[in-house]
Amino acid sequence: MDKFVIRGGNPLLGTVRISGAKNAALPAMAAALLTEEPVILENIPQVRDIETERKLLVAMGAEVELGYGRAQHRTTINCRNLNTPEASYELVKTMRASTLVLGPLVAKFGRAHVSLPGGCAIGARPIDLHLKGLEKLGAKITQEHGYVEARADRLKGGHIVFDKITVTGTEDLLMAAVLAEGETLIENCAREPEVKDLADLLIKMGAKIEGAGTSTIKVKGVARLRGAKHRIIPDRIEAGTFIIAGAISGGDLMVTNCDPNHLTSLLNKLEEVGVKVTRNGESVRVLSLGGLKASDIVTEEYPGFPTDMQAQYMALVTQADGSSIVTENIFENRFMHAQELVRMGASIKIEGRRAIIRGRTPLSGAAVLASDLRASASLVLAALVAEGETIIDRVYHIDRGYERIEEKFRGVGAEIRRIGELLPRKVHVQAHA
Ligand code: UD1
Repeated sequence: MDKFVIRGGNPLLGTVRISGAKNAALPAMAAALLTEEPVILENIPQVRDIETERKLLVAMGAEVELGYGRAQHRTTINCRNLNTPEASYELVKTMRASTLVLGPLVAKFGRAHVSLPGGCAIGARPIDLHLKGLEKLGAKITQEHGYVEARADRLKGGHIVFDKITVTGTEDLLMAAVLAEGETLIENCAREPEVKDLADLLIKMGAKIEGAGTSTIKVKGVARLRGAKHRIIPDRIEAGTFIIAGAISGGDLMVTNCDPNHLTSLLNKLEEVGVKVTRNGESVRVLSLGGLKASDIVTEEYPGFPTDMQAQYMALVTQADGSSIVTENIFENRFMHAQELVRMGASIKIEGRRAIIRGRTPLSGAAVLASDLRASASLVLAALVAEGETIIDRVYHIDRGYERIEEKFRGVGAEIRRIGELLPRKVHVQAHA
């Protein structure tokens, strides 16, 4: 199992380029199941979850070519010979977003056999809302031996009102509705930019969709979709992580190839905390003037403060004067980074869904354990300001969603290196964000 060794104390200076959004790339790859023609996606990040999705599609009989570097981080997916509409437990357990194939498979092939994801490090994370929505579109759902079987000759348009806002649920149902017969109205939808990006791709493929990016989406089903070429939006969580890295390290960092409009709640909050951020076209410059002030956050669905930035924000406010309250409203068990930050010297008290962080406390390097994707990022951020050396174990979590993170950090002056274990052992990756 790889580890990161980080020596803190360097302000981050220079320019860092943001990759494509993992959470937009995953549904876009699943959307390729909806057509027999090739779908070409650009700006695909080179991260582990993308490799998992590639394996998932290939196991079904899809042809998936992935090229990085000069090949523009491009993938070409062709599902004309798809023969096994199934997602095995082996793959679903390493990446919950595998359930995104459910909607497109029933819509296109009339059948999907997909493993139930089970719990994960940050909470229960059921998929009941995906299943209820598919039933509303006429699918027959059965569950047996840990698998969901969904069948329909052809899905029929319907009226879906989500009991709770769900990002991948909205995406899954959107992909089901585009090939359903008749009109579908979906209410209480997630408004995340990744949902809008998926809709943009589907529209290029010939789908009739209105309202994606708002809470009400209308779909007019079509009989078939064609291939398309699409560029994935920038990763707002990777951008946010580097912006906080610039702030926490007392640096001056230019974060490029991002979309500042997707970062509004974070950037507004950072200004309150006393970080100078300048939005400029496709980049954000972050300048730390020192003297950070405590400020509370509550995680919410987009456009609120993202749960995927909560852990990184918590690391930042350990360095702010005063008490900050962080309330996690989306997932019930997403404070596992707090105990590791405490081991580095932070003062954090957890009360149910609230964490109270008392700052500013000096941090010191320690051996810590990454528990999920974003928690690992917060430990890297804390390590950047810690005195001495921090060793972060289980960085396979971070590799799921951040492309070449140590190279990017080194490029702006951080002292970070990856070390492997002498005796490799079998790793069981736990599913999470
Ligand atoms: C997506 C993101 C993840 C992010 C999360 C919240 C992807 C691949 N992942 O995850 O990075 O942290 O949104 O912004 O895009 N819920 C149910 N029943 C369901 C579905 C969800 O009760 O059928 C609950 C969940 O347990 C959770 C809440 O709804 O409490 C929101 O989850 P959801 O938006 O579905 O998260 P994901 O789409 O899995």
